[in-house]
Amino acid sequence: MSNVEISAIGAYLPPLVVTNDKISEFVETNDEWIVQRTGVSERRISEGENTSDIATKAAKIALERAGVNPEDLDLIIVATISPDMFIPSVACIVQSNLNADNAACFDISVACSGFVYALEIANGLMQSMKYKNALIIGAEVLSKVTDWTDRSTCILFGDGAGAAVLKQSKTKGIIKSYLRADGKKGNALTIGGADIDTPFSKEKILQDKYIKMNGREILRFAVPAIAEAVTEVLKDTNISLDEIKYIVPHQANYRIIKLAAEKLKLNEDKFYLNLDKVANTSSATVPIALNEMYEKGLLNKGDKLILVAFGGGLTYAASVIEW
Ligand SMILES: CC(C)(COP(=O)(O)OP(=O)(O)OC[C@H]1O[C@@H](n2cnc3c(N)ncnc32)[C@H](O)[C@@H]1OP(=O)(O)O)[C@@H](O)C(=O)NCCC(=O)NCCS
Repeated sequence: MSNVEISAIGAYLPPLVVTNDKISEFVETNDEWIVQRTGVSERRISEGENTSDIATKAAKIALERAGVNPEDLDLIIVATISPDMFIPSVACIVQSNLNADNAACFDISVACSGFVYALEIANGLMQSMKYKNALIIGAEVLSKVTDWTDRSTCILFGDGAGAAVLKQSKTKGIIKSYLRADGKKGNALTIGGADIDTPFSKEKILQDKYIKMNGREILRFAVPAIAEAVTEVLKDTNISLDEIKYIVPHQANYRIIKLAAEKLKLNEDKFYLNLDKVANTSSATVPIALNEMYEKGLLNKGDKLILVAFGGGLTYAASVIEW
């Protein structure tokens, strides 16, 4: 079995910065409440770009950095819960935008854990299909599924995309992943789909098209989920937590990370955080954070990292990788 590594990373954030003060102009909230409860100060919001547009922009940066031509991509996976439409998939639209005509393409719906799931799915397919190059993207325009009259959710989310080019490698690359879900808790975080309202339906089932969330239940779920995923992913790897340079978590909420660090008896500084400026971009938070770390020169060849995420489904996942 060969190894697969993240060869390059890229990200794109829409230019419009929306501060907490701006949100307080249309819902009853304030900067202090939002910063204290979440750690978020501002987020980027799309002014009309759709998920495939921002996914394509992130992908172009990653491809350029990896020195991979789009026609040499064997696989494109997009993790998203805010696709442009049901079909075609965002991955197929990105394929067309890039002229990546030789790639197999599909989306996955794993909410905020999507990028970590995509990493391991691509790893597996690259081994079984002997693919040389894959592109995985986490991309979300959550602003279009946000209820901008609901102060308990509209303060939390942002738009953005992050992409990684994966290559067969001689280094360790993706060392191990841990993928889990607890579907019984799915109702804690939902975005409705199409209505059931046909000539044959016994009763109409009308769906809410916006994010609905039980924040307290997510808080209760997330902290042990992070601790479990970080602990389990290291099992049988001969790698200790001390050897991990950074844990790159899903950027949902500062309080969640603080509590998870306490539970794992780790210094908070081990967790790379950028949620104050970017907020929760669901599947895109982990690659956007990785991109920022790369651009700041924080990532060196051979560094060991844990990527860890949790979210709708409910799902949770971690990967231990060597950069
Ligand atoms: C959403 C979250 C910040 C709310 O914090 P909380 O401490 O649980 O607060 P509650 O929901 O209990 O609300 C407390 C009070 O603040 C109010 N409130 C809610 N949102 C508010 C806002 N934006 N501004 C001001 N007040 C707000 C509530 O109405 C409530 O008022 P009440 O006591 O008069 O009823 C918190 O639950 C959370 O971060 N959960 C995790 C969410 C998450 O990460 N989701 C994504 C998962 S991928």
